[in-house]
Amino acid sequence: MIIRSWLFVPGDSERKMAKGRQNAADALILDLEDSVADNRQEIARDMTRDFLRANLDRSRQQLWVRINPLDNPLSLPDLAAAIRGAPDGIVLPKVNSAADVNKLADYLEILEVREGLSVGSTKIHCVATETAASLLTFHTYLDGVSDRLVAMTWGGEDLAASLGASDNRNPRTGDYDNPFLFAKSMCLATARAVDAQPVGVVVVDFRNLEELEADCLRDRRAGFIGKIAIHPGQSEVINQAFTPSNEEVAHAQKIVDVFADNPGLGTIGIDGKMYDMPHLKQAHNLLSLSEQIKSLG
Ligand code: COA
Ligand code: MG
Repeated sequence: MIIRSWLFVPGDSERKMAKGRQNAADALILDLEDSVADNRQEIARDMTRDFLRANLDRSRQQLWVRINPLDNPLSLPDLAAAIRGAPDGIVLPKVNSAADVNKLADYLEILEVREGLSVGSTKIHCVATETAASLLTFHTYLDGVSDRLVAMTWGGEDLAASLGASDNRNPRTGDYDNPFLFAKSMCLATARAVDAQPVGVVVVDFRNLEELEADCLRDRRAGFIGKIAIHPGQSEVINQAFTPSNEEVAHAQKIVDVFADNPGLGTIGIDGKMYDMPHLKQAHNLLSLSEQIKSLG
């Protein structure tokens, strides 16, 4: 299943959770990590579990939970509480390598059995680039990662802190500096290599919807599917930007049709432009993405 917009909601805010449930986001991420203060961790855990239990129909919008990182002792109690509400998946932050994902997969298996949930039903979305070490371990995903891993995103804020950077952007152009572009590229390639959905990073300036749209379109051109949101106002823009337009679908269909009508031809001219096998593959990808998005309803 494709998820275009992943809206973060602090796990200790009943008001925002209720608001999120009414929002256009394809998935909510109920957060137990950075958006929850230390003295509210237990409250957030209970509230998140109760919210999950009260919202078992996930047909329009999935409900995920971001737990604390595995090297934090809060992570296991987070997980034990969240699983009681049968979340669609767990977002795992500050991952160092595929070993962390596989460890979470093992924990999930035990907890699913305890809860009587079907084994393998809880998926994983990892935040793959928040630590310095994570930039050196992308190859570990190719050595074997749990097939619970269905989505991967990157992050520039925690990574900046871990790298000792005082900023992650070029102050003149506003563009990400090299280490962050490397993180983005490696996240994209790794996610695609292991058949997970590559998810674009959050735009923190949540009132600037023009910047958000431009960033979504840039991400989509590069190969990302969907984006993290932190404010309900961002979801519609993200959904729209990641939904192929009618023109794009018509153009892709034309490429597919022309190749189908000319069996045996590897290269074809359409409207004065050359098309060959990679373009045909892209056209098929776009049509399949469009179909999957239609099925979201
Ligand atoms: N999910 C659901 N509802 C949200 C929301 C969110 N992420 N962010 C804001 N809202 C609600 C607010 O409660 C408010 O509703 P209300 O008027 O009925 O109370 C409405 O949307 C408008 O909010 P607004 O005033 O524009 O924003 P804010 O100043 O209250 O909040 C943030 C700004 C950044 C604190 C808030 O958007 C937020 O908590 N975002 C998520 C942060 C997070 O989870 N970070 C971790 C991942 S990086
Ligand atoms: Mg963070």
